[in-house]
Amino acid sequence: MQHKKVIELLQSEPTLYEINVKGWVRSFRSNRFIALNDGSTIKNIQCVVDFEKFEESLLKRITIGAAISVTGILTESLGQGQAVEIQVSTMEILGDADTEEVKLTILSPKRHTLETLREQAHLRVRTNTFSAIMRVRSKLSFAIHKYFQKNGFFYVNTPIITGSDAEGAGEMFKVTVLDLNNVPKNKDGNIHYKEDFFGKETNLTVSGQLEAETFAMALGQVYTFGPTFRAENSNTSRHLAEFWMIEPEVAFNDLAANMDLAEDFIKYVIQYALEHCKDDLEFLQERLAQEDKTKPEAERSDMPLLEKLNFVLDNNFKRVSYTEAIDILKECKPNKKKQFKYPIEAWGTDLQSEHERFLVEKHFKCPVILFDYPAKIKAFYMRLNDDKKTVRAMDILFPGIGEIVGGSQREERYDVLKRKITEMGIDEKELWWYLETRKFGTAVHSGFGLGFERLVLFVTGMTNIRDVIPYPRTPLNAEF
Ligand code: 4AD
Ligand code: MG
Repeated sequence: MQHKKVIELLQSEPTLYEINVKGWVRSFRSNRFIALNDGSTIKNIQCVVDFEKFEESLLKRITIGAAISVTGILTESLGQGQAVEIQVSTMEILGDADTEEVKLTILSPKRHTLETLREQAHLRVRTNTFSAIMRVRSKLSFAIHKYFQKNGFFYVNTPIITGSDAEGAGEMFKVTVLDLNNVPKNKDGNIHYKEDFFGKETNLTVSGQLEAETFAMALGQVYTFGPTFRAENSNTSRHLAEFWMIEPEVAFNDLAANMDLAEDFIKYVIQYALEHCKDDLEFLQERLAQEDKTKPEAERSDMPLLEKLNFVLDNNFKRVSYTEAIDILKECKPNKKKQFKYPIEAWGTDLQSEHERFLVEKHFKCPVILFDYPAKIKAFYMRLNDDKKTVRAMDILFPGIGEIVGGSQREERYDVLKRKITEMGIDEKELWWYLETRKFGTAVHSGFGLGFERLVLFVTGMTNIRDVIPYPRTPLNAEF
Protein backbone atom coordinates (compact mmCIF):
# COMPACT_ATOMS: atom_id res chain seq x y z
CA MET A 1 0.00 0.00 0.00
CA GLN A 2 1.36 3.37 -0.95
CA HIS A 3 1.09 6.03 1.70
CA LYS A 4 0.56 9.45 0.14
CA LYS A 5 0.49 13.04 1.26
CA VAL A 6 -2.58 15.09 0.39
CA ILE A 7 -0.46 17.46 -1.68
CA GLU A 8 0.76 14.58 -3.87
CA LEU A 9 -2.73 13.19 -4.33
CA LEU A 10 -4.18 16.52 -5.37
CA GLN A 11 -1.55 16.80 -8.08
CA SER A 12 -1.86 13.24 -9.36
CA GLU A 13 -4.03 11.53 -11.94
CA PRO A 14 -6.75 9.08 -10.83
CA THR A 15 -5.24 5.73 -9.76
CA LEU A 16 -6.51 2.23 -10.36
CA TYR A 17 -4.74 0.88 -7.32
CA GLU A 18 -5.43 1.74 -3.70
CA ILE A 19 -3.57 4.42 -1.87
CA ASN A 20 -3.55 5.35 1.80
CA VAL A 21 -3.65 8.78 3.40
CA LYS A 22 -3.63 9.83 7.04
CA GLY A 23 -4.75 13.16 8.42
CA TRP A 24 -7.23 15.09 10.53
CA VAL A 25 -10.90 15.51 9.73
CA ARG A 26 -11.82 19.09 8.86
CA SER A 27 -15.49 18.38 8.11
CA PHE A 28 -17.88 15.50 7.46
CA ARG A 29 -20.94 16.31 5.36
CA SER A 30 -24.08 14.28 4.72
CA ASN A 31 -22.52 11.21 6.29
CA ARG A 32 -20.63 10.96 3.01
CA PHE A 33 -17.93 13.57 2.35
CA ILE A 34 -14.91 13.84 4.59
CA ALA A 35 -12.58 16.80 4.10
CA LEU A 36 -9.20 15.52 5.24
CA ASN A 37 -6.12 17.64 5.87
CA ASP A 38 -2.64 16.37 6.67
CA GLY A 39 -0.80 19.69 6.82
CA SER A 40 1.11 19.14 3.57
CA THR A 41 -1.04 21.80 1.88
CA ILE A 42 -3.77 24.24 2.75
CA LYS A 43 -6.09 22.14 0.60
CA ASN A 44 -8.10 19.16 1.84
CA ILE A 45 -8.67 15.94 0.02
CA GLN A 46 -12.29 14.86 -0.30
CA CYS A 47 -12.86 11.30 0.85
CA VAL A 48 -16.17 9.82 -0.29
CA VAL A 49 -17.73 7.26 2.04
CA ASP A 50 -20.52 4.93 1.02
CA PHE A 51 -22.22 4.92 4.40
CA GLU A 52 -24.10 1.71 3.72
CA LYS A 53 -20.79 -0.15 3.65
CA PHE A 54 -19.60 1.06 7.05
CA GLU A 55 -20.74 0.44 10.61
CA GLU A 56 -22.77 3.26 12.12
CA SER A 57 -20.47 3.17 15.15
CA LEU A 58 -17.42 3.87 12.96
CA LEU A 59 -19.13 6.71 11.06
CA LYS A 60 -20.03 8.35 14.37
CA ARG A 61 -16.36 8.59 15.22
CA ILE A 62 -15.53 10.63 12.12
CA THR A 63 -15.68 13.92 13.94
CA ILE A 64 -13.96 17.23 13.39
CA GLY A 65 -10.41 17.01 14.67
CA ALA A 66 -10.19 13.20 14.70
CA ALA A 67 -7.09 11.57 13.21
CA ILE A 68 -8.01 8.96 10.63
CA SER A 69 -6.40 6.67 8.08
CA VAL A 70 -8.23 6.24 4.80
CA THR A 71 -7.63 3.76 1.98
CA GLY A 72 -9.20 3.73 -1.44
CA ILE A 73 -8.68 4.54 -5.07
CA LEU A 74 -8.29 8.06 -6.36
CA THR A 75 -11.00 8.94 -8.89
CA GLU A 76 -11.96 11.94 -10.90
CA SER A 77 -14.29 14.06 -8.80
CA LEU A 78 -17.78 14.78 -10.06
CA GLY A 79 -18.29 17.50 -7.51
CA GLN A 80 -17.01 21.04 -7.76
CA GLY A 81 -13.91 22.36 -6.03
CA GLN A 82 -11.54 19.46 -6.61
CA ALA A 83 -10.21 17.43 -9.53
CA VAL A 84 -9.80 14.16 -7.66
CA GLU A 85 -11.24 12.47 -4.60
CA ILE A 86 -10.81 9.19 -2.74
CA GLN A 87 -13.45 6.48 -2.94
CA VAL A 88 -12.99 5.05 0.53
CA SER A 89 -12.77 1.28 0.82
CA THR A 90 -11.39 1.00 4.35
CA MET A 91 -11.07 3.45 7.14
CA GLU A 92 -9.52 3.47 10.59
CA ILE A 93 -9.87 5.93 13.44
CA LEU A 94 -6.39 6.66 14.76
CA GLY A 95 -7.37 9.19 17.39
CA ASP A 96 -10.86 10.29 18.42
CA ALA A 97 -11.89 13.89 19.04
CA ASP A 98 -14.92 14.40 21.25
CA THR A 99 -17.40 16.70 19.50
CA GLU A 100 -18.54 18.44 22.67
CA GLU A 101 -14.98 19.15 23.74
CA VAL A 102 -13.92 20.25 20.26
CA LYS A 103 -16.73 22.81 20.35
CA LEU A 104 -14.95 24.58 23.18
CA THR A 105 -11.76 24.99 21.13
CA ILE A 106 -10.60 26.82 18.04
CA LEU A 107 -10.97 23.56 16.12
CA SER A 108 -14.70 24.18 15.98
CA PRO A 109 -15.71 25.35 12.51
CA LYS A 110 -16.52 29.00 13.05
CA ARG A 111 -14.61 32.26 12.87
CA HIS A 112 -12.20 32.72 15.74
CA THR A 113 -10.30 35.91 16.39
CA LEU A 114 -6.50 35.88 16.18
CA GLU A 115 -6.48 36.66 19.92
CA THR A 116 -8.43 33.48 20.66
CA LEU A 117 -6.07 31.54 18.42
CA ARG A 118 -3.11 32.84 20.46
CA GLU A 119 -4.68 31.56 23.66
CA GLN A 120 -4.73 28.08 22.12
CA ALA A 121 -1.35 28.26 20.43
CA HIS A 122 -0.95 24.48 20.74
CA LEU A 123 -3.97 24.00 18.45
CA ARG A 124 -3.79 27.01 16.16
CA VAL A 125 -1.48 25.31 13.71
CA ARG A 126 -4.50 23.14 12.83
CA THR A 127 -6.26 26.19 11.42
CA ASN A 128 -5.93 27.26 7.80
CA THR A 129 -4.53 30.68 8.63
CA PHE A 130 -1.84 29.58 11.01
CA SER A 131 -0.79 26.49 9.09
CA ALA A 132 -0.43 28.62 5.96
CA ILE A 133 1.77 31.08 7.86
CA MET A 134 3.92 28.30 9.28
CA ARG A 135 4.44 26.69 5.87
CA VAL A 136 5.46 30.06 4.43
CA ARG A 137 7.80 30.61 7.40
CA SER A 138 9.46 27.26 6.74
CA LYS A 139 9.92 27.97 3.02
CA LEU A 140 11.34 31.41 3.80
CA SER A 141 13.89 29.91 6.15
CA PHE A 142 14.99 27.49 3.48
CA ALA A 143 15.20 30.30 0.91
CA ILE A 144 17.45 32.25 3.27
CA HIS A 145 19.93 29.40 3.54
CA LYS A 146 19.67 28.80 -0.18
CA TYR A 147 20.46 32.41 -1.04
CA PHE A 148 23.57 32.55 1.11
CA GLN A 149 24.84 29.10 0.25
CA LYS A 150 24.53 29.68 -3.48
CA ASN A 151 26.41 32.94 -3.10
CA GLY A 152 29.37 31.43 -1.26
CA PHE A 153 28.51 32.40 2.30
CA PHE A 154 29.27 30.13 5.27
CA TYR A 155 26.70 29.49 7.99
CA VAL A 156 28.07 30.29 11.46
CA ASN A 157 26.43 29.30 14.72
CA THR A 158 27.26 32.08 17.12
CA PRO A 159 26.83 31.50 20.87
CA ILE A 160 23.49 31.95 22.56
CA ILE A 161 24.99 32.53 25.99
CA THR A 162 27.41 35.43 25.92
CA GLY A 163 29.25 37.78 28.24
CA SER A 164 28.84 40.83 26.04
CA ASP A 165 26.09 43.20 25.04
CA ALA A 166 26.42 43.38 21.26
CA GLU A 167 24.06 46.33 20.90
CA GLY A 168 25.22 48.13 24.02
CA ALA A 169 21.60 48.80 24.87
CA GLY A 170 21.41 46.82 28.12
CA GLU A 171 18.32 44.87 27.14
CA MET A 172 19.54 41.45 28.19
CA PHE A 173 18.11 38.42 29.93
CA LYS A 174 20.54 37.23 32.58
CA VAL A 175 21.75 33.64 32.62
CA THR A 176 22.61 32.39 36.08
CA VAL A 177 22.54 29.36 38.38
CA LEU A 178 22.93 31.47 41.51
CA ASP A 179 20.29 30.96 44.18
CA LEU A 180 18.06 33.97 43.75
CA ASN A 181 16.93 33.69 47.35
CA ASN A 182 20.44 33.80 48.63
CA VAL A 183 22.60 35.67 46.16
CA PRO A 184 26.30 35.71 47.09
CA LYS A 185 27.55 39.27 47.48
CA ASN A 186 30.98 40.89 47.55
CA LYS A 187 32.10 43.14 50.39
CA ASP A 188 31.00 46.13 48.33
CA GLY A 189 27.47 44.70 48.04
CA ASN A 190 27.72 43.66 44.39
CA ILE A 191 26.83 40.17 43.22
CA HIS A 192 29.73 37.74 43.46
CA TYR A 193 29.60 36.36 39.92
CA LYS A 194 32.79 34.37 40.48
CA GLU A 195 30.53 31.83 42.17
CA ASP A 196 28.19 31.62 39.20
CA PHE A 197 28.31 28.87 36.56
CA PHE A 198 30.65 30.67 34.17
CA GLY A 199 32.50 32.56 36.87
CA LYS A 200 31.29 35.80 35.32
CA GLU A 201 28.13 37.65 34.45
CA THR A 202 26.40 36.17 31.38
CA ASN A 203 23.25 36.78 29.36
CA LEU A 204 21.29 35.54 26.37
CA THR A 205 22.61 37.05 23.18
CA VAL A 206 20.91 40.09 21.63
CA SER A 207 22.78 39.58 18.33
CA GLY A 208 25.41 37.28 16.88
CA GLN A 209 27.07 40.14 15.05
CA LEU A 210 30.26 40.59 17.04
CA GLU A 211 31.17 36.91 16.78
CA ALA A 212 30.08 36.84 13.13
CA GLU A 213 32.48 39.71 12.46
CA THR A 214 35.39 37.65 13.76
CA PHE A 215 34.40 34.88 11.36
CA ALA A 216 34.01 37.23 8.40
CA MET A 217 37.62 38.27 9.02
CA ALA A 218 38.64 34.71 8.18
CA LEU A 219 35.97 33.08 6.03
CA GLY A 220 35.16 36.24 4.09
CA GLN A 221 31.41 35.93 3.81
CA VAL A 222 29.34 34.47 6.62
CA TYR A 223 25.79 34.55 7.97
CA THR A 224 24.06 33.58 11.18
CA PHE A 225 20.43 32.53 11.48
CA GLY A 226 19.42 31.93 15.05
CA PRO A 227 17.37 33.01 18.02
CA THR A 228 18.12 36.31 19.72
CA PHE A 229 16.68 37.73 22.91
CA ARG A 230 15.75 41.21 24.01
CA ALA A 231 14.42 42.16 27.39
CA GLU A 232 12.99 45.42 26.07
CA ASN A 233 9.65 46.10 27.62
CA SER A 234 7.90 47.06 24.40
CA ASN A 235 4.54 45.43 24.10
CA THR A 236 3.92 46.22 20.44
CA SER A 237 2.79 44.28 17.41
CA ARG A 238 6.40 44.40 16.07
CA HIS A 239 8.44 43.27 19.08
CA LEU A 240 9.18 39.88 20.55
CA ALA A 241 11.41 39.06 23.51
CA GLU A 242 12.66 36.02 21.56
CA PHE A 243 12.99 36.40 17.81
CA TRP A 244 15.05 34.95 14.99
CA MET A 245 17.60 37.05 13.21
CA ILE A 246 19.62 36.58 10.04
CA GLU A 247 22.95 38.38 10.18
CA PRO A 248 25.28 38.32 7.17
CA GLU A 249 28.73 39.81 7.58
CA VAL A 250 31.10 40.42 4.67
CA ALA A 251 34.78 41.32 4.64
CA PHE A 252 35.74 44.14 2.24
CA ASN A 253 32.11 45.29 1.72
CA ASP A 254 31.43 48.97 2.24
CA LEU A 255 28.01 50.42 3.06
CA ALA A 256 26.88 50.64 -0.57
CA ALA A 257 27.73 46.97 -1.14
CA ASN A 258 25.93 46.16 2.11
CA MET A 259 22.77 47.85 0.82
CA ASP A 260 23.04 46.00 -2.49
CA LEU A 261 23.35 42.70 -0.66
CA ALA A 262 20.37 43.40 1.60
CA GLU A 263 18.14 44.44 -1.28
CA ASP A 264 19.11 41.49 -3.47
CA PHE A 265 18.67 39.07 -0.57
CA ILE A 266 15.22 40.32 0.42
CA LYS A 267 14.01 40.25 -3.16
CA TYR A 268 15.29 36.70 -3.62
CA VAL A 269 13.48 35.30 -0.60
CA ILE A 270 10.23 37.06 -1.47
CA GLN A 271 10.48 35.74 -5.02
CA TYR A 272 11.08 32.26 -3.62
CA ALA A 273 7.96 32.49 -1.46
CA LEU A 274 5.91 33.65 -4.44
CA GLU A 275 7.09 30.63 -6.41
CA HIS A 276 6.84 28.01 -3.67
CA CYS A 277 3.93 29.10 -1.49
CA LYS A 278 1.33 29.96 -4.09
CA ASP A 279 -1.69 28.29 -2.47
CA ASP A 280 -0.87 29.57 0.99
CA LEU A 281 -0.24 33.12 -0.20
CA GLU A 282 -3.47 33.16 -2.18
CA PHE A 283 -5.29 32.03 0.93
CA LEU A 284 -3.56 34.70 3.04
CA GLN A 285 -4.35 37.34 0.45
CA GLU A 286 -8.03 36.49 0.71
CA ARG A 287 -7.82 36.46 4.51
CA LEU A 288 -6.31 39.94 4.45
CA ALA A 289 -9.00 41.19 2.08
CA GLN A 290 -11.67 39.89 4.47
CA GLU A 291 -9.96 41.44 7.47
CA ASP A 292 -9.63 44.77 5.68
CA LYS A 293 -13.39 44.88 5.17
CA THR A 294 -13.81 45.11 8.94
CA LYS A 295 -11.41 48.06 9.21
CA PRO A 296 -11.87 51.77 8.60
CA GLU A 297 -10.75 52.86 5.12
CA ALA A 298 -7.57 54.55 6.33
CA GLU A 299 -6.24 51.37 7.95
CA ARG A 300 -6.78 49.06 4.99
CA SER A 301 -3.88 47.81 2.93
CA ASP A 302 -3.60 49.70 -0.33
CA MET A 303 -2.71 46.63 -2.41
CA PRO A 304 -3.71 42.96 -2.39
CA LEU A 305 -0.96 40.83 -0.81
CA LEU A 306 0.51 39.32 -3.99
CA GLU A 307 0.54 42.67 -5.72
CA LYS A 308 2.37 44.17 -2.76
CA LEU A 309 5.02 41.41 -2.86
CA ASN A 310 5.49 41.85 -6.58
CA PHE A 311 5.73 45.59 -6.12
CA VAL A 312 8.73 45.10 -3.83
CA LEU A 313 10.40 42.89 -6.43
CA ASP A 314 9.81 45.32 -9.27
CA ASN A 315 11.03 48.51 -7.63
CA ASN A 316 14.37 49.73 -6.36
CA PHE A 317 14.51 50.49 -2.69
CA LYS A 318 14.82 54.24 -2.26
CA ARG A 319 18.13 55.23 -0.65
CA VAL A 320 17.89 58.36 1.49
CA SER A 321 20.27 59.82 4.06
CA TYR A 322 19.05 60.47 7.59
CA THR A 323 19.66 64.18 7.03
CA GLU A 324 17.45 64.23 3.92
CA ALA A 325 14.80 62.26 5.80
CA ILE A 326 14.80 64.78 8.66
CA ASP A 327 14.35 67.63 6.19
CA ILE A 328 11.37 65.85 4.63
CA LEU A 329 9.88 65.09 8.04
CA LYS A 330 10.39 68.61 9.38
CA GLU A 331 8.49 70.06 6.45
CA CYS A 332 5.76 67.43 6.17
CA LYS A 333 2.10 68.08 6.90
CA PRO A 334 1.65 65.80 9.91
CA ASN A 335 4.66 67.44 11.57
CA LYS A 336 3.44 70.98 10.88
CA LYS A 337 -0.06 70.09 12.00
CA LYS A 338 1.41 68.53 15.16
CA GLN A 339 -0.05 65.13 14.35
CA PHE A 340 3.10 63.23 15.29
CA LYS A 341 3.26 62.03 18.86
CA TYR A 342 6.97 62.87 18.73
CA PRO A 343 7.34 66.08 16.72
CA ILE A 344 10.49 66.39 14.61
CA GLU A 345 12.28 69.52 15.70
CA ALA A 346 15.99 69.15 15.20
CA TRP A 347 18.60 67.06 13.47
CA GLY A 348 19.79 64.32 15.77
CA THR A 349 16.52 62.95 17.11
CA ASP A 350 15.83 59.26 16.74
CA LEU A 351 13.10 58.32 14.32
CA GLN A 352 9.98 56.75 15.79
CA SER A 353 7.89 54.23 13.92
CA GLU A 354 5.31 56.94 13.06
CA HIS A 355 8.07 58.81 11.18
CA GLU A 356 9.38 55.70 9.46
CA ARG A 357 5.91 54.78 8.34
CA PHE A 358 5.23 58.27 7.04
CA LEU A 359 8.37 58.13 4.90
CA VAL A 360 7.63 54.67 3.51
CA GLU A 361 3.87 54.68 3.22
CA LYS A 362 3.01 58.30 2.50
CA HIS A 363 6.09 60.00 1.10
CA PHE A 364 8.12 57.51 -0.94
CA LYS A 365 5.50 54.76 -1.20
CA CYS A 366 8.17 52.07 -1.52
CA PRO A 367 10.79 50.36 0.67
CA VAL A 368 13.35 52.89 1.88
CA ILE A 369 16.97 52.49 2.98
CA LEU A 370 17.93 55.25 5.40
CA PHE A 371 21.66 55.69 5.92
CA ASP A 372 24.28 57.87 7.66
CA TYR A 373 22.51 58.27 10.99
CA PRO A 374 23.77 60.49 13.83
CA ALA A 375 26.45 58.61 15.74
CA LYS A 376 24.76 59.37 19.05
CA ILE A 377 21.64 57.30 18.35
CA LYS A 378 23.42 54.24 16.96
CA ALA A 379 25.54 51.40 18.37
CA PHE A 380 29.24 51.69 19.16
CA TYR A 381 30.50 49.46 16.34
CA MET A 382 29.33 51.57 13.39
CA ARG A 383 31.94 53.32 11.26
CA LEU A 384 32.33 57.02 11.96
CA ASN A 385 32.06 59.25 8.90
CA ASP A 386 34.55 62.02 8.18
CA ASP A 387 32.01 64.59 9.40
CA LYS A 388 32.54 63.00 12.89
CA LYS A 389 28.80 63.39 13.46
CA THR A 390 27.29 60.54 11.51
CA VAL A 391 27.95 56.83 11.18
CA ARG A 392 27.72 54.46 8.22
CA ALA A 393 24.46 52.94 9.44
CA MET A 394 21.56 51.73 7.35
CA ASP A 395 18.02 50.79 8.27
CA ILE A 396 15.60 49.31 5.76
CA LEU A 397 12.02 50.39 6.26
CA PHE A 398 9.08 48.47 4.85
CA PRO A 399 5.46 49.49 4.38
CA GLY A 400 3.25 48.32 7.21
CA ILE A 401 6.27 47.04 9.13
CA GLY A 402 8.69 49.90 9.69
CA GLU A 403 12.27 48.75 10.33
CA ILE A 404 12.92 45.30 8.91
CA VAL A 405 16.72 45.50 8.65
CA GLY A 406 19.36 47.28 10.73
CA GLY A 407 22.97 47.21 9.64
CA SER A 408 26.15 49.16 9.04
CA GLN A 409 29.67 49.35 7.82
CA ARG A 410 31.75 48.47 10.88
CA GLU A 411 34.37 50.65 12.52
CA GLU A 412 37.56 48.92 11.41
CA ARG A 413 40.02 51.44 12.90
CA TYR A 414 41.36 50.24 16.25
CA ASP A 415 41.81 53.66 17.85
CA VAL A 416 38.47 55.02 16.76
CA LEU A 417 36.64 51.89 17.92
CA LYS A 418 38.41 51.92 21.28
CA ARG A 419 37.53 55.55 21.80
CA LYS A 420 33.87 54.98 20.97
CA ILE A 421 33.63 52.03 23.34
CA THR A 422 34.94 54.19 26.14
CA GLU A 423 32.79 57.16 25.21
CA MET A 424 29.66 55.04 25.25
CA GLY A 425 30.44 53.73 28.71
CA ILE A 426 30.99 50.13 27.63
CA ASP A 427 33.38 47.91 29.56
CA GLU A 428 36.33 47.48 27.23
CA LYS A 429 37.43 44.35 29.07
CA GLU A 430 34.37 42.46 27.81
CA LEU A 431 35.30 43.27 24.23
CA TRP A 432 39.07 42.69 24.20
CA TRP A 433 38.68 39.92 21.62
CA TYR A 434 36.52 42.09 19.39
CA LEU A 435 39.09 44.88 19.53
CA GLU A 436 41.86 42.44 18.58
CA THR A 437 40.26 41.80 15.19
CA ARG A 438 41.17 45.42 14.46
CA LYS A 439 44.80 44.77 15.33
CA PHE A 440 45.54 41.80 13.10
CA GLY A 441 44.77 42.52 9.48
CA THR A 442 41.80 44.80 9.97
CA ALA A 443 39.69 45.54 6.89
CA VAL A 444 36.59 47.36 5.80
CA HIS A 445 33.60 45.11 6.45
CA SER A 446 29.84 45.37 6.72
CA GLY A 447 26.77 43.45 7.68
CA PHE A 448 23.17 43.70 8.74
CA GLY A 449 20.46 41.97 10.72
CA LEU A 450 17.10 41.04 9.30
CA GLY A 451 14.35 40.31 11.81
CA PHE A 452 12.94 37.03 10.53
CA GLU A 453 9.48 37.48 12.04
CA ARG A 454 9.18 40.95 10.53
CA LEU A 455 9.92 39.42 7.14
CA VAL A 456 7.31 36.71 7.73
CA LEU A 457 4.84 39.43 8.78
CA PHE A 458 5.39 41.25 5.53
CA VAL A 459 5.19 38.20 3.29
CA THR A 460 2.06 36.79 4.93
CA GLY A 461 0.25 40.12 5.27
CA MET A 462 -0.29 39.55 8.98
CA THR A 463 -0.25 42.52 11.32
CA ASN A 464 0.78 41.13 14.69
CA ILE A 465 4.20 39.56 15.17
CA ARG A 466 2.71 37.11 17.69
CA ASP A 467 0.93 35.43 14.81
CA VAL A 468 4.00 34.54 12.75
CA ILE A 469 6.04 32.59 15.35
CA PRO A 470 4.92 29.27 16.84
CA TYR A 471 5.03 30.29 20.50
CA PRO A 472 5.56 34.02 21.02
CA ARG A 473 7.52 35.32 23.97
CA THR A 474 6.43 38.81 24.98
CA PRO A 475 6.33 40.75 28.26
CA LEU A 476 4.28 38.80 30.82
CA ASN A 477 3.75 35.93 28.40
CA ALA A 478 5.73 32.71 28.17
CA GLU A 479 2.84 30.22 28.04
CA PHE A 480 3.37 26.91 26.19
O1 4AD B 1 18.54 46.88 14.46
P1 4AD B 1 18.97 45.72 15.29
O2 4AD B 1 18.92 45.89 16.76
O3 4AD B 1 20.44 45.36 14.79
C1 4AD B 1 21.28 44.42 15.29
O4 4AD B 1 21.01 43.63 16.16
C2 4AD B 1 22.58 44.35 14.56
N1 4AD B 1 23.54 43.65 15.43
C3 4AD B 1 22.37 43.65 13.27
C4 4AD B 1 23.64 43.54 12.44
O5 4AD B 1 24.09 44.55 11.94
N2 4AD B 1 24.19 42.37 12.30
O6 4AD B 1 18.11 44.44 14.90
C5 4AD B 1 18.08 43.99 13.59
C6 4AD B 1 16.67 43.65 13.18
C7 4AD B 1 15.71 44.83 13.21
O7 4AD B 1 15.80 45.60 12.04
C8 4AD B 1 14.38 44.13 13.32
O8 4AD B 1 13.94 43.65 12.06
C9 4AD B 1 14.71 42.94 14.18
O9 4AD B 1 16.10 42.71 14.08
N3 4AD B 1 14.37 43.15 15.59
C10 4AD B 1 13.31 42.59 16.20
N4 4AD B 1 12.36 41.77 15.75
C11 4AD B 1 11.41 41.37 16.63
N5 4AD B 1 11.38 41.73 17.91
C12 4AD B 1 12.32 42.56 18.43
N6 4AD B 1 12.30 42.90 19.73
C13 4AD B 1 13.34 43.03 17.55
N7 4AD B 1 14.42 43.84 17.70
C14 4AD B 1 15.02 43.89 16.51
MG1 MG C 1 17.73 48.74 14.64
